[in-house]
Amino acid sequence: MRIILDTDPGVDDALAIMYLAAQEDAEIVAVGSVHGNVPSPLAAQNALRVLELLGIEAPVAIGAARPLAQPLQTAEFVHGADGLGGRAGAPPLGTPVSESAAEQLVRLARAQPGELTLLALGPLTNIALAVLLEPDLPKLLRSVVIMGGAVSVPGNITPYADANFFHDPEAADLVLGAGFGDITLVGLDATEQTRAGEEWLTAVSGLPGPRAEFATGLLDHYAGFYTQMFGTRGCTLHDPLAAAIMLDTKLATFRDMPLAVELTGTHTRGQVVSDQRVIASDAYIASGHSSGRLPVKVAETVDVPRFLEQM
Ligand code: BDR
Ligand code: CA
Repeated sequence: MRIILDTDPGVDDALAIMYLAAQEDAEIVAVGSVHGNVPSPLAAQNALRVLELLGIEAPVAIGAARPLAQPLQTAEFVHGADGLGGRAGAPPLGTPVSESAAEQLVRLARAQPGELTLLALGPLTNIALAVLLEPDLPKLLRSVVIMGGAVSVPGNITPYADANFFHDPEAADLVLGAGFGDITLVGLDATEQTRAGEEWLTAVSGLPGPRAEFATGLLDHYAGFYTQMFGTRGCTLHDPLAAAIMLDTKLATFRDMPLAVELTGTHTRGQVVSDQRVIASDAYIASGHSSGRLPVKVAETVDVPRFLEQM
């Protein structure tokens, strides 16, 4: 699978990249950074750092510095001031390319129509900007997998919204309504099932080599945050699960439903609004009583033991 990665590393983003690097059938063609866990220039530096550690050569483009319609808000309280739990280390050797993440996405999708899968692990600002640049983007990409949203479960950053959608609700709504024919949402409904506990963390820390050492450092920091939140030691592997489901859809079950994102609610901005009514005939859709949006494959139940073993 040829992948364009859009990401805000971010501890779990870095772990997702490490996961992808270990999969024979995954090729990271290019990376775009986005604001979210940290500002987008730092996210690009972190993506370069992780790619260099893994020996992956892929261009990294700096993406949107801020959301479409609200001020920038970042999440260093989860991921550390450097975005990598204090383990960022020396600056990367490489530098980001000069085009923006949205421009890079559009250029590559036009050059290789129907071949590329987009894996979006941060706020969807770059993807929304790319759709505005190239309205045919939905036809040019093979598929899209998004980590974000909370469909039928509580949010994490607010009672109703996950961090990625909350950090740019307008972008998330635009992308979910853009007409992508093959789009999968791996939201908190799925990722909150993947709480890695003490046993798994200890197993990872016992693995040899520089990659395991790096992962252990990241996880130590990340588990610190989640342990405080949940009361028992562990952490939630959001972005790695999205990467894993992209490569192996048998890891989860899915339900199709059109989705929108709440943009004006005082308490609910960034919440996913899912149309879980039975989708009826084309005539019903044409009558205007449905949202008219194409359905999204929403990941529901996850084979957690198999996923944690793979991780
Ligand atoms: C998402 O928000 C970020 O903090 C994580 O990297 C993940 O992409 C989870 O809500
Ligand atoms: Ca992320």
